[in-house]
Amino acid sequence: MYFKQFLNDETGCSSYFIASRQSNEAAVVDPDFEVQPYLDLARERGYRIKFVIDTHLHADHVSGNRRLAAASGAEVCLHEAAEVAFPCRKLRDGEELRLGQVVLRVVHTPGHRPESISILVINPPRSPEPSMVLSGDTLFVGDVGRPDFGGPEGAREQYASVQKLLGLDDYVAVFPAHFEGPCGKGMCGRPSSTIGFERRFNPLLQVPQEEFVQRAAEVPARPLNMNAILATNQGLGNYEWARPGGDGEVARLSADEAPRWLREHQAFVLDVREPWEYAAGHVPGAVSIPQADLALRLAEIPKDREVLAVCASGGRSLRAAQFLKRLHYEQVANLDGGTNGWIKAGQPVER
Ligand SMILES: [Fe+2]
Repeated sequence: MYFKQFLNDETGCSSYFIASRQSNEAAVVDPDFEVQPYLDLARERGYRIKFVIDTHLHADHVSGNRRLAAASGAEVCLHEAAEVAFPCRKLRDGEELRLGQVVLRVVHTPGHRPESISILVINPPRSPEPSMVLSGDTLFVGDVGRPDFGGPEGAREQYASVQKLLGLDDYVAVFPAHFEGPCGKGMCGRPSSTIGFERRFNPLLQVPQEEFVQRAAEVPARPLNMNAILATNQGLGNYEWARPGGDGEVARLSADEAPRWLREHQAFVLDVREPWEYAAGHVPGAVSIPQADLALRLAEIPKDREVLAVCASGGRSLRAAQFLKRLHYEQVANLDGGTNGWIKAGQPVER
């Protein structure tokens, strides 16, 4: 067999290219938006991409699944619970996809999303047992996928799904869909692990179910442009332009200089935090547009006025500002240190 992991530093996503060196058939799992690297690899090595599989409908990046399938003649595959508006092969729990001698066995692992799957990779000439699991956003290295996209039952389902994977042998290598990024909060940064190591040292796997559910409920902010990205991945709209990114220079303002600047420029203050964070206290006059909604609410952001992007500590708002810059909002600045820094500097707060 052939196996290659692709790491995208901008999104924190991992994707996978798996092939049989006997039949030259290949599968790509969780393809990045930019699909040329997979096509180049297939061409260089003489592989034919037969399956393009997403382990779930991603909320943080636009999948390249349909573009890669169109360019390669492959079949797009998703779990049957995925609600999509385009034709695809609907995978079921236990179903096996074959690449020559290599077997990809689907395991339904709902929780992060209702349609989340993990994929066991089996290479029978070496062993009848799986040697690897592509664990999607179910099991990460040092963490599990956030369960809040899976609805109220998400955390309980995620617990059961993770337990299912922990039933695998210790030696099974774990290759998740993320090594960083907003789909989890405590990922270690290593791009792979083993079932044995995670069972013993993953902090969330050391606690009973009730505590797991409790800790899993402390979720980070929803990803930038999540609603537009999810709709794109479902085929319900095309907001490919809403994928995060952009490394444009963004002006920075400190909490000390911001009040005067705001007065002088009559600027629009854009608070991209979650509604509950905004409600707890915000820069006076700030307008709440959570980053998850940003792409779908652009009409509310003036292009002819200075805009000051604000979040809790300056990270989320910087990425939002860079995204706006990419869309030609030229007058965007970022509040360094965010609302926390603003409060620390003794500036007034509105509730
Ligand atoms: Fe995800």
